[in-house]
Amino acid sequence: MFFAKVLLLMLSIIVSKIVLIARVILWISETDYSSVTGYKLLRIIHRGAVVKKTILLLVSLLAGSVYAQKFEHLAMTPPMGWNSWNHFACNVNEKLIRETADAMVSSGMKDAGYQYVNIDDCWQGERDELGFIQPDSKRFPSGMKALADYVHSKGLKLGIYSDAGWKTCGGYPGSRGYEYQDALTYAKWGIDYLKYDWCNTEDLNAKGAYMTMRNALYAAGRPIVFSVCEWGDNDPWLWGKDVGHLWRTTGDIYPCWDCEYNHGSWSSWGVLRVIEMREGIREYAGPGHWNDPDMMEIGNGMTVNEDRAHFSMWAMLAAPLIAGNDIRNMSTETLKILTNRGVISIDQDKLGIQAFKHFTKDYVDVWFKPLDNGDWAVTFLNRDQKPKNISFNWKREDVMDELSKRNARFDKAIYKIRDLWAHEDLGTTKEILNTKIPGHTVLMLRLIKQ
Ligand code: GLA
Repeated sequence: MFFAKVLLLMLSIIVSKIVLIARVILWISETDYSSVTGYKLLRIIHRGAVVKKTILLLVSLLAGSVYAQKFEHLAMTPPMGWNSWNHFACNVNEKLIRETADAMVSSGMKDAGYQYVNIDDCWQGERDELGFIQPDSKRFPSGMKALADYVHSKGLKLGIYSDAGWKTCGGYPGSRGYEYQDALTYAKWGIDYLKYDWCNTEDLNAKGAYMTMRNALYAAGRPIVFSVCEWGDNDPWLWGKDVGHLWRTTGDIYPCWDCEYNHGSWSSWGVLRVIEMREGIREYAGPGHWNDPDMMEIGNGMTVNEDRAHFSMWAMLAAPLIAGNDIRNMSTETLKILTNRGVISIDQDKLGIQAFKHFTKDYVDVWFKPLDNGDWAVTFLNRDQKPKNISFNWKREDVMDELSKRNARFDKAIYKIRDLWAHEDLGTTKEILNTKIPGHTVLMLRLIKQ
């Protein structure tokens, strides 16, 4: 008897839904249904329901479009900060994050522009019975809110990591199916930056998956920089501008000059490989949406010359400057590289135009980057191990950037030359530049318009 009643109830609900849908279609298409048998009474009964449903439908469509966007006006210059992964991998805990925040202030990195302290993979514990993600209580016993409060008290911002799949690359719970819940949780904790990875995503569509999290973050209401990390596999530069604030362009970086480090089913790449892998995508970057050649490896094992080249090229590429070393225990040389203000100002230039390669000769690349005030940044990148003699006649170079429509006009304009690593002036572009560049490093110049 009871089951018969339940069945009857379900049937009547289904029938009423079908009738309602039919009514909506008829109502929207303005069909004259008064003559349709049996509909006269239903019209009166359902008039109210139809109006209510239609209002709901309109509201939800409107809400959908309101939340279908990223936070604009964030990352108008490439984000600067630190991330745990390159040096610490899964060895993260709240002590490390607090000490790193302290070091960012005491080392002078904060004054140089670094802002975000980002926890990468392996911070997660389990989801609770309602599905809300919890931090690993052994690693983060005080919880994420307390950690965010601490980082904020230092004048810095806190970043976190998740994954579009059901598990992160390290095997921790991913956000798939929990996007809105996770975004709400991050907002509640006071998170300012989310790196969103791409492991265990099976057949998900990349753009769609990242849009879901973008919308979830927006709906949660706290401005959070959204870092798309799908390694350049689905051409994120083609769709990333409206989805995130930065997108990884390659697989993982490795602290070597020109190597491929084979992990079996995937490889990580040396600095030169990362630079070379994605030429031709500069037009997609700009204020609020950056190509991300990965977090830096400065202070993680390359030579000082190589680290300088790495930092210089990230600045030329208008890349996010996310340090990846142990900033609590770094050498003076590493700190000097990471806080070189002349180089940072090239990266942070508000025109936000990525450099282009003017030419390569005898393993030396010459890169130009137009700057907001009419200056130019120029980097001679010696890829070779051997030192190279350079003789560069500015007046003979036709440096025209089709993207920014800037022309250096060395035949007419004169620029003062500042060496950004030697911290000295090198005359002007009236004279031929004659110099020697050691192996695996750069000569990085700012040309100051006179
Ligand atoms: C991927 C990312 C890395 C790092 C790890 C964490 O490999 O590309 O940057 O976040 O996952 O597991």
